[in-house]
Amino acid sequence: AFTPRVFSGIQPSGDLHLGNYLGAIRRFVPLQQSYECVYCVVDMHAITVWQDPNDLRRATREVAAAFIAAGVDPKSSIIFNQSQVSQHAELAWVFNCIARIGWMNRMTQFKDKAGKNSENVSLGLLAYPSLMAADILLYKATHVPVGDDQKQHLELTRDIAQKFNNDYAASIGEQGLDPEFFPITEPLIAGPATRIMSLRDGTRKMSKSDPSDQSRISLLDDADAIAKKIKRATSDSEPLPETVEGLAGRPEADNLVGIYAALADLTKADVLAQYGGQGWGTFKPALAELAVAQLSPMIGEMRRLTDDPATIDAILRDGAERASVLAEATMAEVRRIVGF
Ligand code: ADP
Ligand code: NA
Repeated sequence: AFTPRVFSGIQPSGDLHLGNYLGAIRRFVPLQQSYECVYCVVDMHAITVWQDPNDLRRATREVAAAFIAAGVDPKSSIIFNQSQVSQHAELAWVFNCIARIGWMNRMTQFKDKAGKNSENVSLGLLAYPSLMAADILLYKATHVPVGDDQKQHLELTRDIAQKFNNDYAASIGEQGLDPEFFPITEPLIAGPATRIMSLRDGTRKMSKSDPSDQSRISLLDDADAIAKKIKRATSDSEPLPETVEGLAGRPEADNLVGIYAALADLTKADVLAQYGGQGWGTFKPALAELAVAQLSPMIGEMRRLTDDPATIDAILRDGAERASVLAEATMAEVRRIVGF
């Protein structure tokens, strides 16, 4: 029986945005009621593509600040950065020897990120899911909150856990350990409207990795900037539909209604019951007001925290110490199982 435990990570690469908040960080908070939670700033994942070292340090503190500002309690949950717990790299190597190259080549995110250039990206970018499996399984996490962009990677984590448990079944038995040594981690699938699309083009994901997209709502924006970006968001010329079915074929409308629903903790149907039939001249200002009211306090708290890096560093150090205890317990068993 595994302790109900959640692991999740965010890369410190570029500015955090509304999609990261609604799709990931905000969901971390209520999970603390039912699980032991381990929330990681995955700086080792970030360097799979080039990062300026000073930007990486700044972004690492920003992500930690976002966790805390959103409501993650650093006393009950563990907040740390990956590179401070060396067992992540150690277990990832073992998993590199468990996973097959073909499994990695099938990952759609690798294909997207590598594009036509797949011979000239880092080896780390290809092996990324193996490090992600190590992140999760080092803590024997039973559950991982996933957006749909991470589902395939979590399946690969499950495949690695299964193959490790099978390949080393005899050794696991000889060590007197549970045959299900690593758990087969379950996804916690997000509710509706957790994939936030670009405010410029409702068919593209809002993403850090699209520097040309000026429409993105950053978690560093002030109230004015947030309101302006929402009012300038691409929409269409029809009024809002009365029902969710009416959003079909209207990606921008669907996205803006979805953002309203996520911020207000409503369903899209609830939002349309209130705004169906109304025009964008009514809906966009209402959405802007809601977004400012929901995000500004959190962004203000993030600023206070990032203005005090010593406090964040102390929280990350404490988190790394607590994470190391769990990580070393698993890694000590893994070394014996493997024959090191
Ligand atoms: P990005 O895709 O912006 O580079 P990451 O890959 O670091 O960001 O993702 C961090 C977390 O934020 C992941 O859990 C991911 O599912 C979530 N996330 C990223 N973009 C979005 C989005 N547009 N909508 C919802 N969730 C998102
Ligand atoms: Na992503």
